[in-house]
Amino acid sequence: MAEEAKEMNIAVRYFTRSGNTQKLAKAIGDAVGVEAKAVSVPLEEHTEVLFLGSSVYAAGVDDAVKRFIAENKEKIGKIYNFSTAALAASTYKQVEKLAKEHGVAMAAEEFHCRGSFAFMHRGRPNEQDLRDAAEFAKGIIKKG
Ligand SMILES: Cc1cc2nc3c(=O)[nH]c(=O)nc-3n(C[C@H](O)[C@H](O)[C@H](O)COP(=O)(O)O)c2cc1C
Repeated sequence: MAEEAKEMNIAVRYFTRSGNTQKLAKAIGDAVGVEAKAVSVPLEEHTEVLFLGSSVYAAGVDDAVKRFIAENKEKIGKIYNFSTAALAASTYKQVEKLAKEHGVAMAAEEFHCRGSFAFMHRGRPNEQDLRDAAEFAKGIIKKG
């Protein structure tokens, strides 16, 4: 029983329009041994480590990400942000703001890489990006 209680609950959720962030989500899910799911799938139980993936679309992160945080806040231990964008640095600041509004903890660590958009950054995230995302996730789990 005590052993079970110590086990860390991990989940991966993401929003994607063109599949870039989904690629990172799958690499992260594979690295930590859980299935990456879309933000339309609510968390089932309390989750210490939530890898949350999003992207930048002109006005900001998609409303689906905002809804996910609002609707699942009671179950989120800490958000570990990951994102893709064509130009923007990352979605960290926007997600951090949402987390704060809902009283959810946000880890300082994040993963971000370029995401293809029209003629820009073709092929990103690439194999190296996916390996880096996997290493990022493994590093978080090891620390926990
Ligand atoms: C409608 C739209 C607006 C976008 N606006 C921005 C932007 O303002 N800044 C930026 O860096 N990238 C922008 N992008 C690029 C996306 O952030 C990038 O392609 C990202 O990897 C998409 O992730 P996804 O495939 O997971 O949806 C935009 C993409 C779309 C489709």
